[in-house]
Amino acid sequence: MSKPNIKNNEKKEKLITSLLDQMTLEEKVGQLYQTAIMGEFDYGPAFEKNNVSVLIKEGKLGSMIGPYDNQVSMKLQKIAVEHSRLGIPLMFCNDIIHGCRTGFPVNIAMSGSFNPELVKKSAEVIAFETSHSGTHVTFAPMLDIVRDPRWGRVVESPGEDPHLGSVMADAWVSGFQGEDPSDGNHIASCAKHFVAYGAAEAGREYNTVDISERMLRNIYLKPFKQAVDSGVKMVMSAFNVYDGVPMTANKFLLDDVLRKEMGFDSVIVSDYTSTEEIMNHKIAKNKEEVAEKCLNATLDIEMISTSFLKHLPELAQHSPKILDQINASCKRVLGLKYDLGLFDKPYKNMYPKFEDYFLLPESRHMSLQMALESAVLLENKTHILPLDKTQKIALIGPFSTTNRLVGPWGGKARNEDCVTFYEGLSKVFDHVMVSEGSKLKEMTEDMISDAVKIAREADVVILALGEDQYESGEANSKTNISLSDAQYELVKAVNEVNKRIVAVIFSGRPLILTPLIPYVDGLLYAWFLGTETGHALADLLSGSKNPSGRLAMTFPRHQGQIPLYYNHMKTGRPLDPINHPHNHYTSRYLDSVNTPLYPFGYGLSYSTFEHTDIKVSRDVFENGTLEVILDVKNTSDHAGYDVIQLYIEALHFSVTRPVNELKAFNKVYLKPHETKQLTFELTMDDFKAYGYPMHYSTESASYLIKLGNNSNDIFYTHQIQLKEGI
Ligand code: NOJ
Repeated sequence: MSKPNIKNNEKKEKLITSLLDQMTLEEKVGQLYQTAIMGEFDYGPAFEKNNVSVLIKEGKLGSMIGPYDNQVSMKLQKIAVEHSRLGIPLMFCNDIIHGCRTGFPVNIAMSGSFNPELVKKSAEVIAFETSHSGTHVTFAPMLDIVRDPRWGRVVESPGEDPHLGSVMADAWVSGFQGEDPSDGNHIASCAKHFVAYGAAEAGREYNTVDISERMLRNIYLKPFKQAVDSGVKMVMSAFNVYDGVPMTANKFLLDDVLRKEMGFDSVIVSDYTSTEEIMNHKIAKNKEEVAEKCLNATLDIEMISTSFLKHLPELAQHSPKILDQINASCKRVLGLKYDLGLFDKPYKNMYPKFEDYFLLPESRHMSLQMALESAVLLENKTHILPLDKTQKIALIGPFSTTNRLVGPWGGKARNEDCVTFYEGLSKVFDHVMVSEGSKLKEMTEDMISDAVKIAREADVVILALGEDQYESGEANSKTNISLSDAQYELVKAVNEVNKRIVAVIFSGRPLILTPLIPYVDGLLYAWFLGTETGHALADLLSGSKNPSGRLAMTFPRHQGQIPLYYNHMKTGRPLDPINHPHNHYTSRYLDSVNTPLYPFGYGLSYSTFEHTDIKVSRDVFENGTLEVILDVKNTSDHAGYDVIQLYIEALHFSVTRPVNELKAFNKVYLKPHETKQLTFELTMDDFKAYGYPMHYSTESASYLIKLGNNSNDIFYTHQIQLKEGI
């Protein structure tokens, strides 16, 4: 795992000490204020007018969200560097989540590529475009583990698994930051939202979180720990409470856990106004108390709201502790600016023609590769796929010709740059007819009859269905995550006249697809694939590329099963679905099986694989590494990727642990009939969890090692004994 170079520490220390010596209290507090230059930068009663330039001149602003435009950044930076007393440069931050101008697939889809190398390369492309358009910090990656698809922000997340989330955390952070985030091609990364935001009750945005500390440590903290180990430069505190205390004022988690336990020594930024929202939680009576509590929790930068700016100088007059805390926070902010090279080159990369760095052929190529590995093949009954290029295709549905394919938090990516499904298919297939058939949520008889007409003439129908890109993302929670009635009307009408149907689904969350399955032979989950959508889908459907994405989140059969995730805890009364499926007093539903429609890690390929000669290097594991070795053979005529997943199960422990825990995976490319040997290496650390009392250990227990095609389909199990500390 990479860590950025430590720059000349002595020079850094000297510069920062000298600045701190010269700075007034107001100037120090100014470094802790971040506003947004998007029409809202005058937030708060003290800043009713457009006075951002006055604030900069007075040294009362340290960083900002926006401006997303180098001409404006240049002007603002000039004020800071040439017209403020100490010339401290501004730091520009933006939400570049899955693409700057070249749109990449949404994050949950990229995570499902199970290809961290490709994610890292994509992050490098994103950093290149971002850095050349004048942004220094991206508020990404989002590392919230998610278990509830009703929550709109699952789209930004790495999915439901802490190991996959940690692998992706490293890929994103090291791709964004490179060896040195000041080198002009990279940027600083901000891991968010610390922590457990993804556990919002009932999937309702900004809702209460109430999980145990053990759950927090074993599941939710893991990707953040990895981001810290990978050298992340910034962490954002979350909107939610943990154990009753809002995260932005949560000293236990920000100071004791993030800083002291995990060793994070850089900048913590609040989320948008999350400081002052602690008054809504009734944790602070007024803004003075907001400022005091958040600073005391070691929060460094207040985003948008102005409690720090307005109240810290006054509070510090009477409290040496507050003064020390202001100094410490200011030092961290200046340290980050130094690491970004801003003192040496405050105007770096502020090219007036920054658009020249956008959408370069190699950037689009990387987006295409990522899209090809992000889509997930869920059904392929009757081997309907891949499709012959000479077949007559009817492309039908609300996603046939739309360019709304970027996905939420699209950065600077534009719908106009997206290759539509129809454009992509038309380049590859000889005969493509198209008809919208229905809108996302409504249809007319005429629309349906147009669609039925072309469906009747076609050899095969492709239905392009789903949810709009802004039905997921922040503040987009839903209670109904099924396809709309209008789209089902269309599906049924088409199915009446043509049974050869492949559905392609566009969405930012797992949808409930159970009612759709009887109507289709093929099912490809496209999520939102970004700029190269049409090209990627045409390649996958025609078989010139082989699907290899896997699900980073469980797909429930019914909404009533939510939250449903593979790594759930054991129950004292498990259901035995094979021998006693109707045993009443077991953990089950009266009206549904427990299993998901598609489990975590699931995804089909046009290839078939065989796994043989599986060996585990030892039965008693004491130290060093444990190897699991196997041969993988592609038994088909299609070249393709296999994704082998290694899970463990603790057989005896002081607390109950998940039924399966992903600990490693290997994505391997095999030519037709090729065989490769693969080795997984596990260390003691892979078996550890927080037991009772709260102690991180393997507990020298027995474990099962399992290899699977997904979390439900295990093809090999082997028991080992761990003996720690021998
Ligand atoms: C609120 C969102 O929760 C966060 O993810 C984002 O980075 C900030 N706004 C800044 O736009």
